[in-house]
Amino acid sequence: MTADSEDRRDFLYLTGAAFGAVGVACAVAPMINSLNPAKDTLALASTEVDISAIPVGESKTVMWRGKPVFIKHRTAEEIAEARKVNVDVLPDKQSDEDRVEKPEWLVVVGICTHLGCVPVGQKTSDAHGDYDGWFCPCHGSHYDTSARIRKGPAPKNLAVPPYEFISDTVIRIG
Ligand code: FES
Repeated sequence: MTADSEDRRDFLYLTGAAFGAVGVACAVAPMINSLNPAKDTLALASTEVDISAIPVGESKTVMWRGKPVFIKHRTAEEIAEARKVNVDVLPDKQSDEDRVEKPEWLVVVGICTHLGCVPVGQKTSDAHGDYDGWFCPCHGSHYDTSARIRKGPAPKNLAVPPYEFISDTVIRIG
């Protein structure tokens, strides 16, 4: 065999391998794409909320991943009440500082950690329980101004979802 024909054979072999690799990549690409979440799923995975219109002392409920999320614009008194508590006496020990990004804004999933009812307390006219936060009438769980469980059968504080401030007036949940 001449050096020339050897070069040609190598060229054909390498070309075939390259086409083979491209073929595999083409076959795999649609499969990988199908594993990526659809655009509408991504939209539901996070939600942006303009909080600029929520007056001090009032709340807003938004839906995120099919769950209600309570956004509370807390008063100075509510913040002070949440912060004066001795964390050691709490059923689910968590400081208020660990539950908020900014003291005046509390963001929690509005699902009672007992059996999943939605507590009341979002409207100023609602019952707020013995600790001025939220009250779950299903079996009588009382949450404080940091949405921590203080009394009743619920074992945990209302959960804080992942969120961030993307500006002073907009938060992104999820
Ligand atoms: S579900 Fe809230 S107290 Fe039972």
